[in-house]
Amino acid sequence: MTRSPRTVYAAAATRLTMIGLIGLIAIPMPARAESSRPHPTTARPASARPASESYRLHCSGCHRADGRGVPGVAPDLREIGPLLRTAAGRAYLGRVPGVAQAPVDDDELARLLNWVLTEIAGTPPEPAYSAEELGVLRAEPLRDPVAARKLLPDPKL
Ligand code: HEC
Repeated sequence: MTRSPRTVYAAAATRLTMIGLIGLIAIPMPARAESSRPHPTTARPASARPASESYRLHCSGCHRADGRGVPGVAPDLREIGPLLRTAAGRAYLGRVPGVAQAPVDDDELARLLNWVLTEIAGTPPEPAYSAEELGVLRAEPLRDPVAARKLLPDPKL
């Protein structure tokens, strides 16, 4: 079967288009300026990050987006409000490893913990945790948080 001039033209055009496409894919590769731009989340100074975002980044993986936790893995943060009733409970919340060792500075940690207590546990701390208070507490993370928790009054009572 002989190819009509039209078919030959179409085939040539297809080939040219392919070459053009390959060029489009190949040429801009070295010029990926965007990849060297810092990610918007990491670029933003920590102090400006909303506490809800800090929570999503550093806590929700274990405690879930709504704080309900995962049975046997991470406790329910909706239940922690009553721990604020005693000084020991208040200190515990700043020293439990998930809080004390969160990769945020004291200021962001204070805003984060106040947010968790207010928005997730429905119990705004009075007074709110300050960066200074948390700086002191987190310097001594609990080695055995489960044992420490058992020494506190049962928050469900
Ligand atoms: C790797 C999983 C994990 C991450 C991430 C994590 N936690 Fe936890 N969290 C736990 C576990 C497990 C416990 C129980 C105590 C323990 O074993 O440390 C706990 C306990 C707590 C408690 C005490 C709750 C109670 O009822 O005793 C609080 C408050 C808390 N976490 C807050 C946070 C906050 C805020 C963040 C984010 C900055 C965070 N956690 C990140 C796993 C995690």
